[in-house]
Amino acid sequence: MATLREEIDRFKPGLTTTEAPFIEEAKARGQLYIHQPYDLYSELNHEAWKKLFARIRPRWERYANPAFQRGIESLCFDPDRIPRLDDVNRFLNPLTGFRAKAVSGYVAAYLFFDCLRNREFPTTITIRRADKLDYLPEPDLFHDIAGHVPMHTDKAFADTLVQFGECARTAAAIAREEKDPADRVRRLSSVIQALARFFWFTIEFGLMKDGKGGLSVYGSGLLSSFGEIAHSIESPDVQRYPIQLEWVVNQSFEIDRYQPLLFVVDSFDHLFALVSELETWMKEGRLNNVAPGEPGVNEADLASFLEAES
Ligand SMILES: [Fe+2]
Repeated sequence: MATLREEIDRFKPGLTTTEAPFIEEAKARGQLYIHQPYDLYSELNHEAWKKLFARIRPRWERYANPAFQRGIESLCFDPDRIPRLDDVNRFLNPLTGFRAKAVSGYVAAYLFFDCLRNREFPTTITIRRADKLDYLPEPDLFHDIAGHVPMHTDKAFADTLVQFGECARTAAAIAREEKDPADRVRRLSSVIQALARFFWFTIEFGLMKDGKGGLSVYGSGLLSSFGEIAHSIESPDVQRYPIQLEWVVNQSFEIDRYQPLLFVVDSFDHLFALVSELETWMKEGRLNNVAPGEPGVNEADLASFLEAES
């Protein structure tokens, strides 16, 4: 039988997505970068991690890219307890210089990409409810730490993220040079949309050739979804195409359903080359008029680019 202490611990507010007073208070203070108050996690929070981890593990072995599988090994996660970011970084940092950095909520696009450029990954520290493992109102710790961070142990992938951050910096520099304010906003909005689409269809939902005629998953949105990781590889309802930059930057997407369209890269070197090409296109003005549609560019994202320091 559980002790009273265990019962209290089980039902304390914890750090549950959308239900965490610690996070609300940090947001109210305007504090974006925070620490991980590890003792606030409730037993239910740890239970959510344990269930999510145990459930998806066999699917990682079956579908995940080898770089991700090596990453999971080298980060030494405890399958039963939520990881401490300090421990994660102790294993991660010597490999690629990356570190997970706790945040209280949404990080505006430029700040997010600029963190990547500095080998920092803004990381959510709240976790979804243990009784709603598949319902995700916003990103959580399992998505960020179990879905993204293992990829950051791979040098080629980590370098690609840094290069992507450089791209965002170039976008801000180009916008600064544009004299007409209306043109500046219109073109920058298009460029941000192109960057967001590229990020979505690669870093979040990318597939890679496995060299044996099949595919593996390297996108973190897929790697952290028990249902969609299998669906992305197995389902006849998914269209999978070799990645084409001109298609990706013009392609809308919806975030609240399994993705019906996914793009395949050959390797991480291929992905890195695509980011370089994306930057070239940006400099040539080829991202200034991408097709309208999702995702929208919100005021905070736009302002973060316009206010970026050179
Ligand atoms: Fe993500």
